[in-house]
Amino acid sequence: MRDAVTSTVPTLELDDIQSGALYERPTPYVGTYLLLRIDSRDDGRELVRRLHRIITPARSSPGPTAASITVAFTYAGLKALGVPQASLDSFVPEFQEGMAARAAILGDQGESSPEHWEKPLGTTDVHVAIAVLTSDLASLEAAADRARKAQEDLPGIEVVWRQDCYQLPTGRTSFGFKDGIGQPAVEGSGRAPSNPKEHPIKAGEIILGYPDETGAPPPMPTPEVLGRNGTYVVFRKLHTKVAAYRQYLRARAADRADEALLGAKMVGRWPSGAPLALSPSSDDPELGRDVHRHNDFGYADDPRGFKCPVGSHARRANPRDAFDHEGGVNVRLHRMIRRGTSYGPALPDNVLEDDGLDRGIMFVFAGAHPRRQFEFVKTQWLNDGIFIGAPAEKDPLVGPNDGSGSFTIPQHPVRRRLPDLPPFVVTRGGEYCFAPSLSAMRWLAELQT
Ligand code: HEM
Repeated sequence: MRDAVTSTVPTLELDDIQSGALYERPTPYVGTYLLLRIDSRDDGRELVRRLHRIITPARSSPGPTAASITVAFTYAGLKALGVPQASLDSFVPEFQEGMAARAAILGDQGESSPEHWEKPLGTTDVHVAIAVLTSDLASLEAAADRARKAQEDLPGIEVVWRQDCYQLPTGRTSFGFKDGIGQPAVEGSGRAPSNPKEHPIKAGEIILGYPDETGAPPPMPTPEVLGRNGTYVVFRKLHTKVAAYRQYLRARAADRADEALLGAKMVGRWPSGAPLALSPSSDDPELGRDVHRHNDFGYADDPRGFKCPVGSHARRANPRDAFDHEGGVNVRLHRMIRRGTSYGPALPDNVLEDDGLDRGIMFVFAGAHPRRQFEFVKTQWLNDGIFIGAPAEKDPLVGPNDGSGSFTIPQHPVRRRLPDLPPFVVTRGGEYCFAPSLSAMRWLAELQT
């Protein structure tokens, strides 16, 4: 029996795959994201050769890593390295277009639109993205030093943007909630599912070159050495309006307990990470901490959302088994690996006035299908309410609200509706990238074009 199961699981080439996509970052963590521009093709290739030596392959990190370096390239970056046009054309269209060109589709409008993005995000100056994540400042300095050395003496390489990140002392993100709990397990990665009700997803959903949930391998960039064992990475710097969020809840809640309840209803989890599906009326920090229980749930027993609103952020982003009886949506085609981190200082507890500081999330997606995973979830499930039968409602926490939308909380005897939702999250910029395998890095470094 055991052999039969094992034989259907492809062997992932873990020494060729970058660890960042498959394995979680250290906890706690500190880190830095660097964006580089390649002005000289030769220097660019030398940079890739040096980065290849310091990348962490998945094989070497069977547990949470102490230090990990992940490298990814934009379309403009691959072009600057001299990747032949036929290969460039073989990448998925959204990667070729870049995130700024997809702004209208993604709901990046008004304050979030590319003309307001931090420069050079959304421009063709972003070529290489390097993420360095470690467990403490000393090892961050050492790892960042290795990354810096890779670009030293290369006048044709310019660092054009840097964003530091770190885990807040609370272990939570700026709105005050624990994040990063809901993740799919990937077949062949060696990681057990945190939700026993969800079988690991096929490796090809995340890593190119292996069958995905459709039974066939996803379309892969050519030549094979460039595409295989790579993954698409989407990053977005998302500013969070924490004071506005707190003021909104304070103004609508009956008392402090109600305020906490409304906040949890919007997210689908309590601040500790305890899911509403298992703890509908109050936070349960022990459950929030319990890695064996805090992701072990579905929504099938709560079709109308009395425990966890169907419009809450986490339920929209992963409706789990809620559609199992309807036969319409295969949720497994829309799963994603998230590798988000926090940036900026926490707004101290109980402060309701904005201090003007920038704080939020570096949202990072990894997957083989940016369109049917990241873009689908963002546009169909977070930005739109059609699939939950409330077309006018957007995600109450992260949706592109404009002050006119509402959020419905089903409850007895009458449902509750929170009106006039303002935007709580502003996009500061982002990009679609491709994190190649280690052999693809060698191929890129040795290009002769
Ligand atoms: C500033 C923006 C965001 C914040 C503050 C945020 C916060 C959270 C929190 C607190 C959770 C619950 C913890 C967990 O289940 O891991 C969560 C879950 C999740 N979020 Fe977000 N999120 C943001 C943006 C996004 C975006 C843009 C997407 C996708 C396009 C997304 C996709 C997800 C997914 C897939 C889950 C897991 C749901 C599950 O498996 O149950 N989030 N998020």
